[in-house]
Amino acid sequence: MNGDDFGKLLRDVDDYVEELFAPPAPVLEAALEDSRNAGLPEINVSPAQGRLLQLLTEIAGARRILEIGTLGGYSAIHFARALPDDGILISLELEERHAEVARNNIERAGLSEKVEVRVGDARKVLSAMAGEDFEPYDLIFIDADKESYPDYLEWSLRLSRPGTLILGDNTIRGGSVLDPRDDSARATRQFNRMLAEDERLSAIVLPLIRERIDGLAIARVRS
Ligand code: SAH
Ligand code: DHB
Ligand code: MG
Repeated sequence: MNGDDFGKLLRDVDDYVEELFAPPAPVLEAALEDSRNAGLPEINVSPAQGRLLQLLTEIAGARRILEIGTLGGYSAIHFARALPDDGILISLELEERHAEVARNNIERAGLSEKVEVRVGDARKVLSAMAGEDFEPYDLIFIDADKESYPDYLEWSLRLSRPGTLILGDNTIRGGSVLDPRDDSARATRQFNRMLAEDERLSAIVLPLIRERIDGLAIARVRS
């Protein structure tokens, strides 16, 4: 099979899984449409990955979720829909413009009670959060600027308890993590290595199919 055929097969398989397990939901479609109309970059999780995030939320029995990188709230809506009635999601976003689109999308989805979008540089917001009296999170989704992933992992560990799930999006990047000379993937390689080597964690990177291969890191803080 040549590369083009393989690329087509990957997309067809993703479509097949999406059709079966992530059929279109009006609030999710509307969130994507408004994000697009507002000119936000189309770098949200895929529908199938959103479904995976929901399933992981359910498996973890998560009630308190922290998301780093909100964009238009597409992944946040997935998480919030999987939370129990008394669950909460705090989502951190650098850009006020993104946060505003996200808040509207979350409101339309009827999830404003459960979701708080906090604007600021996550590196600062996280250090403030860890300095306060905090209740640990059950699940943390890292999906903001890729260069800061190693720092975000350190903060996530601070905000965790034994059993917390720490997820990292975009940890394969079309295979660029394989090339040690590719500087754009340097922090991602470091993040994956930290997950693999840190004895406090039990972890894996799961390759995910989209237009290209990307990955989701899944780590559990050991008991
Ligand atoms: N989780 C979203 C996608 C997030 S895209 C979804 O799947 O729907 C990454 C987001 O991280 C962008 O909105 C970007 O503005 C934000 N971001 C980038 N650097 C950041 C930082 N230092 N602190 C907080 N957010 C940041
Ligand atoms: C891209 C995808 C993402 O999920 C993200 O968080 C950042 C960038 C991308 O495809 O470029
Ligand atoms: Mg991402």
